[in-house]
Amino acid sequence: MNDTASPAGYPHRHLLGIEGLHPPEIAYLLDLADAYVEQNRQIDKKRAVLRGRTQVNLFFEASTRTSTSFELAGKRLGADVINMAVARSSVQKGETLLDTAMTLNAMHPDVLVVRHGDSGAVQLLSQKVGCAVINAGDGAHEHPTQALLDALTIRRRRGHLDGQVVAICGDILHSRVARSNIILLNTMGAEVRVIGPPTLVPAAVEALGVTVHHDMRKGLNGVDIVMMLRLQIERMQGSYVPSLREYFQLYGLDQSKLELAKPDALIMHPGPMNRGVEIDSLVADDINRSVIREQVEMGVAVRMACLDALGRHLPNLNGAAS
Ligand code: NCD
Repeated sequence: MNDTASPAGYPHRHLLGIEGLHPPEIAYLLDLADAYVEQNRQIDKKRAVLRGRTQVNLFFEASTRTSTSFELAGKRLGADVINMAVARSSVQKGETLLDTAMTLNAMHPDVLVVRHGDSGAVQLLSQKVGCAVINAGDGAHEHPTQALLDALTIRRRRGHLDGQVVAICGDILHSRVARSNIILLNTMGAEVRVIGPPTLVPAAVEALGVTVHHDMRKGLNGVDIVMMLRLQIERMQGSYVPSLREYFQLYGLDQSKLELAKPDALIMHPGPMNRGVEIDSLVADDINRSVIREQVEMGVAVRMACLDALGRHLPNLNGAAS
């Protein structure tokens, strides 16, 4: 599939997931992000694209890089950015979420960036507020800006996404990063393999168009990209792996397993990394192969592109709809 840009732009009001996006829409966001990468490397990083707009970051789950990245992205585009870290409450979640939405809506934000522990919560919230909503991760469902930044990282290194063979390894079951990446990479013509223990690979994952490997050595054979995932212990009820030591032996990326991938295969990880559990420090820090820090850089540019794209659908500042 060809992933060149289209003049169609990004026609949606929200960014709730990768599912349902068409290749030209994804390519448009990546092209826009490419320009922001260059801007972010200049001394003057600021633009007035969102001047006069209010961006509220509403994080019901812990986050370091995603929330910082969205904050920086909004500020570089000139928006007023407010961060609300909402501690997860044990009271009925539906009510709490909708109450929060109503309260925020009354403050007239233009963009709401939301992370929530429940799949579908961000979409529900988008139906209750009057502003644009970006999903910054909902449960094990979607994390669209992570998939976009991963795609941008691959595309800048390789020139294209189509035909790339990507292995996503580890805790696939609990990972919204895996889900959004599988959908995006398939949409853009890449080939995706998922690798993990049977307990951490969802039964229905093949329906998303991937091949499943439980033997990491077989799964890594000849791949272009190795994307490692953290064990999402906080989402596990009970034990999914015998011991962390055994998990590392079977599914941890180290030099010997990496040798099975293509000699120039790139190593990726969305962070936070658990060194010695899913990835060995020697490969994580390999300056020739690891693009983990580059992913963080691409994250800011991708979030600027998403905010910019949604900003183009906001009513213009003198009151008329744009
Ligand atoms: C991921 C997330 O929160 O889904 N992290 C991130 O956004 N950089 C992956 C993870 O928590 O392991």
